[in-house]
Amino acid sequence: MQPLIFLLLALTLCVNAANSTNCRCFPGDPCWPSFQDWADFNTTVGGKLISTVPIGSVCHTRGDSSAYNEHACANLIADWGFPATHYTTFASPMASWFANFSCDPFMPRDSPCTITSLQRYTVNVSGVQDVRKTIQFAREHNIRLVIRNTGHDYLGKSTAPGGLALWMHHLKDTKFLDYSSDSYSGPALRLGAGVQGFEGMAAAHAQNKVILAGNCESVGIAGGYSQGGGHGQLASRFGLAADQVLEWEVVTADGQHLIASPEKYSDLFWALSGGGGGTFAVVMSVTVKPHPEVSTASANLTFSGACVSADVFWNIIRNFVVDIAPLVDTGAVAIWAVIGKTFTLTPISWPGGTAEQLQNGLASTLALLEQNKINYAYHIQQFPTFWDTYAAMNPHSNITEAQVGGRLMPRSVLESTPSSLITALRGIAELGVVVSGVSLNVSRSPVPYNAVNPAWRDAAISVVLGTGYNYTNREENVKCQSLMTDVLIPPLTAISPNSGAYLNEADWKQPDWQKTFYGSHYSALEEIKRKFDPDEMFYARTAVGSEAWTEQSDGRLCRA
Ligand SMILES: Cc1cc2nc3c(=O)[nH]c(=O)nc-3n(C[C@H](O)[C@H](O)[C@H](O)COP(=O)(O)OP(=O)(O)OC[C@H]3O[C@@H](n4cnc5c(N)ncnc54)[C@H](O)[C@@H]3O)c2cc1C
Ligand SMILES: *[C@@H]1O[C@H](CO)[C@@H](O)[C@H](O)[C@H]1NC(C)=O
Ligand SMILES: *[C@@H]1O[C@H](CO)[C@@H](O)[C@H](O)[C@H]1NC(C)=O
Ligand SMILES: *[C@@H]1O[C@H](CO)[C@@H](O)[C@H](O)[C@H]1NC(C)=O
Ligand SMILES: *[C@@H]1O[C@H](CO)[C@@H](O)[C@H](O)[C@H]1NC(C)=O
Ligand SMILES: *[C@@H]1O[C@H](CO)[C@@H](O)[C@H](O)[C@H]1NC(C)=O
Ligand SMILES: *[C@@H]1O[C@H](CO)[C@@H](O)[C@H](O)[C@H]1NC(C)=O
Ligand SMILES: *[C@@H]1O[C@H](CO)[C@@H](O)[C@H](O)[C@H]1NC(C)=O
Ligand SMILES: *[C@@H]1O[C@H](CO)[C@@H](O)[C@H](O)[C@H]1NC(C)=O
Repeated sequence: MQPLIFLLLALTLCVNAANSTNCRCFPGDPCWPSFQDWADFNTTVGGKLISTVPIGSVCHTRGDSSAYNEHACANLIADWGFPATHYTTFASPMASWFANFSCDPFMPRDSPCTITSLQRYTVNVSGVQDVRKTIQFAREHNIRLVIRNTGHDYLGKSTAPGGLALWMHHLKDTKFLDYSSDSYSGPALRLGAGVQGFEGMAAAHAQNKVILAGNCESVGIAGGYSQGGGHGQLASRFGLAADQVLEWEVVTADGQHLIASPEKYSDLFWALSGGGGGTFAVVMSVTVKPHPEVSTASANLTFSGACVSADVFWNIIRNFVVDIAPLVDTGAVAIWAVIGKTFTLTPISWPGGTAEQLQNGLASTLALLEQNKINYAYHIQQFPTFWDTYAAMNPHSNITEAQVGGRLMPRSVLESTPSSLITALRGIAELGVVVSGVSLNVSRSPVPYNAVNPAWRDAAISVVLGTGYNYTNREENVKCQSLMTDVLIPPLTAISPNSGAYLNEADWKQPDWQKTFYGSHYSALEEIKRKFDPDEMFYARTAVGSEAWTEQSDGRLCRA
């Protein structure tokens, strides 16, 4: 027996040596699984393995993945801005930069269609076994693994060049429960990992309840949104999406299927609730606290500063952001933007407020518009439910055809030096950059037991900036990225040095991202990451633990 054991040991060592590279195995490497390996793996996941064909293949005549079809291509380009064009697919990121022009429908027809930046294979997950088998296969073959839900992520966290993806989109179950634990007793709503905002809200509505969901109705609930914090028009009243979580059903890196709650695996619960998606475990479902429906007042407003001086225009904006604070403190959320010389408020919603109170809260801003003889479009209405408000007042969102950066602006800045904020925002807007803000108050006492960036609790405005995205011009995009990192965000940081940024709506090149995105929680989060994923099976750009890896220019992931 002795020699056999020796032989096995030697074999194991040898296999490990062949494997023990500093990088994840990349397509084309000798370690890359053979066609037969993939076929066998496909069998173990019940035929749910999908080989990537980029959606832009119909727009190209050259390259491995090209499949030119004039009509299909025209349709794809016409529909590109709709989130559904991407979230119904398993690989197309909404933030186009992360597709790296691979098979871009906007590029010339004869530019080659390649997969480059996208994952090579995807498992269309329908249950726990699919997740287990996929992690196991990725582990055995040292392949980069990524979790994809809707593909909304701005920071490229759901895109993995040369990788294998777990696609969670089809886990659509929703179920109402009578929930009881040490920390909460009452109704609860369990949502499968693929449930999107509009579906979760509809499930709640059927019980005359509401839940937190994004302003873009197609953002997933259990994925990056709730795991990363998650704001929406109910956030001032009920807190962030992460604050609503009762438990997470997960599969861990070692294949355990478990429930993390404040009572069990409480460290994992804490990390998943606000510490960011894609790195701690694979979430199969989330159970959240629904709230009773509530009568809601809502208003929208648009005006142009084209016929007044910039001083007048920005003074009105300053008045608006400062004067709505009492509304926000009592439950309102305002979504506003300055694009060039146009200000839009789409909308301000106040669950629990009345139209009369809302009108009073906006009166000083409207008076300034009148005084300055500025035309404006304004609509205010009281709705019997939040559901009706969202349907009438929340515009359908397209994908964001911009490169973003962000900063959480503390209440203290608004109270003590609002002019420093207005000066900074004006400087940014005058460069032709889109300035947007979500005014909200998610301070909670006691602070919920979760990993939400503490900067959120002091924030009055989540400021998000957008520079252009050019579908055909790489250099221009790189320039815009540098502008964001080096020029646009620094003045916002300078006036809010102790704050941070929302990890889901920020610059993917943010320096010192650990502190900026996670605040004082970073080291605790790192420890939980090490505990639940010691072999670093899960990687996502800017996620906790990701600094252990670097991405080479071809997308290959290697140890830093
Ligand atoms: C148009 C638009 C509007 C938006 N509006 C809002 C808003 O109003 N409020 C707000 O808070 N945010 C908003 N966002 C940001 C949004 O919250 C993030 O993009 C978020 O990451 C989306 O999560 P997802 O799961 O839908 O997307 P994906 O891109 O598929 O995934 C995002 C991240 O979550 C991880 N992940 C996904 N599913 C799982 C899972 N089951 N288990 C573990 N990890 C998982 C992924 O690996 C990735 O790291 C918006 C984004 C866009 C593009
Ligand atoms: C996996 O198997 C299914 C069913 O046999 C097949 O339709 C699919 O094309 C296979 N996937 C790959 C990547 O070969
Ligand atoms: C949203 O995207 C669609 C599809 O590309 C486009 O037709 C429409 O003009 C876009 N809407 C806005 C407001 O940009
Ligand atoms: C993924 O699986 C779902 C069932 O869970 C199925 O309806 C869908 O067609 C599959 N999609 C692809 C692209 O294989
Ligand atoms: C890589 O190493 C693991 C053990 O760590 C082994 O199971 C697997 O077969 C190896 N894969 C390759 C391609 O050598
Ligand atoms: C404001 O809301 C009303 C009512 O829903 C709508 O008709 C109008 O188009 C909205 N205006 C803006 C600028 O969004
Ligand atoms: C939120 O509102 C409360 C009053 O309800 C106030 O004390 C607190 O300062 C506000 N926090 C922020 C960040 O605006
Ligand atoms: C994008 O860049 C190209 C040059 O490659 C230029 O012709 C085009 O005008 C740019 N598009 C936009 C919208 O700026
Ligand atoms: C992005 O595209 C460039 C140019 O084609 C290529 O050199 C690079 O390897 C690609 N990177 C990724 C991550 O795909």
